[in-house]
Amino acid sequence: MGGARRVGWVAAGLVLGAGACYCIYRLARGQRPGSQRLRLRSSRSAEDLTNGSYDDILTAEQLQKLLYLLESTEDPIILERALVTLGNNAAFSTNQVIIRELGGIPIVGRKINDPNYSIKEKALNALSNLSVNVENQIKIKVYVSQVCEDVLSGPLNSPVQLAGLRLLTNMTVTNDHQHLLSHYITDLFQVLLAGNGSTKVQVLKLLLNLSENPAMTEGLLGAQVDSSFLSLYDGHVAKEILLRALTLFQNINNCFKKEGHLAKPAFTKGSLFFHLYGEECAQKMQALVNHPDADVKEKVTIIPKF
Ligand SMILES: *[C@@H]1O[C@H](CO)[C@@H](O)[C@H](O)[C@H]1NC(C)=O
Ligand SMILES: *[C@@H]1O[C@H](CO)[C@@H](O)[C@H](O)[C@H]1NC(C)=O
Ligand SMILES: *[C@@H]1O[C@H](CO)[C@@H](O)[C@H](O)[C@H]1NC(C)=O
Ligand SMILES: *[C@@H]1O[C@H](CO)[C@@H](O)[C@H](O)[C@H]1NC(C)=O
Ligand SMILES: *[C@@H]1O[C@H](CO)[C@@H](O)[C@H](O)[C@H]1NC(C)=O
Ligand SMILES: *[C@@H]1O[C@H](CO)[C@@H](O)[C@H](O)[C@H]1NC(C)=O
Repeated sequence: MGGARRVGWVAAGLVLGAGACYCIYRLARGQRPGSQRLRLRSSRSAEDLTNGSYDDILTAEQLQKLLYLLESTEDPIILERALVTLGNNAAFSTNQVIIRELGGIPIVGRKINDPNYSIKEKALNALSNLSVNVENQIKIKVYVSQVCEDVLSGPLNSPVQLAGLRLLTNMTVTNDHQHLLSHYITDLFQVLLAGNGSTKVQVLKLLLNLSENPAMTEGLLGAQVDSSFLSLYDGHVAKEILLRALTLFQNINNCFKKEGHLAKPAFTKGSLFFHLYGEECAQKMQALVNHPDADVKEKVTIIPKF
């Protein structure tokens, strides 16, 4: 309970601080004292800001309080609320800039190391929203290796694993930082094959981003992949997975053709190249030509015959 009392104290300090600022402001403007109390009463403490009912856009001053609270509290409930509030606010592009300029990215970033998975997940979610901004990505990229390690070692199909995968997907919408994932491609394929439907879709979104970048093609084709990979191309596979798996092949194939200089012998037995351009895959593609779903059929016919 000591933690909660400390937070209360911190919040009170923040309100006092805001009040003092207001007094100076009021003196400068020469307003009537009566309006000050009104203003103070309606001004929110940092604790109020983490109240789940506040979904509206916060001001820079309020965001600063929230960041201060994030740094100073050890109470997991308050921490979680502050991260959710910050994440929701980071959905707005102006706030993405304000939070960066207030130095908020490292403050949120440090919370991905919190041993509590619930806190870690909320920090990853907040970073995901913050990452929808090119300049923020430059600050967030230092966490990419850590997030990869966490995604690979974290509990399979857990909310924290999905949150990490979503952040990585957001960080790879452009080609700028994709090379940071090069070391993890083989492991990401393992998560793809081991994960359930939700995990598979999220890993495929990430791999699809990488697959459009010719600079990643060699790394993708060279990845050691279990032969069960080809079962993603079975006719009964859920459409949201099957279509993405087909697009993955299509993208890689397009890049591979463009990069005609890639040395084929570099791809060993057991590599993605070996699976995609082997006889078994060709048979799977042939079978999919008769798939009842029109979208699936269309995707298959785009893929060259073997
Ligand atoms: C959250 O805010 C509402 C008013 O918007 C208030 O009634 C409620 O007591 C607050 N809850 C907490 C935990 O502060
Ligand atoms: C982790 O954080 C959540 C959310 O705030 C909290 O409910 C839970 O008690 C924490 N778990 C541990 C082990 O501290
Ligand atoms: C992130 O942004 C989306 C909208 O882009 C929003 O729905 C979501 O609640 C935001 N918050 C978090 C924590 O992801
Ligand atoms: C980034 O992540 C957020 C939250 O996970 C999501 O709502 C948003 O659509 C993503 N943006 C892009 C461009 O993928
Ligand atoms: C995947 O597993 C998670 C955690 O067990 C579960 O919440 C989710 O609903 C599962 N998704 C599918 C599509 O089975
Ligand atoms: C990455 O994926 C997202 C959605 O999953 C998409 O909006 C974006 O265009 C993709 N970027 C690249 C470079 O493929």
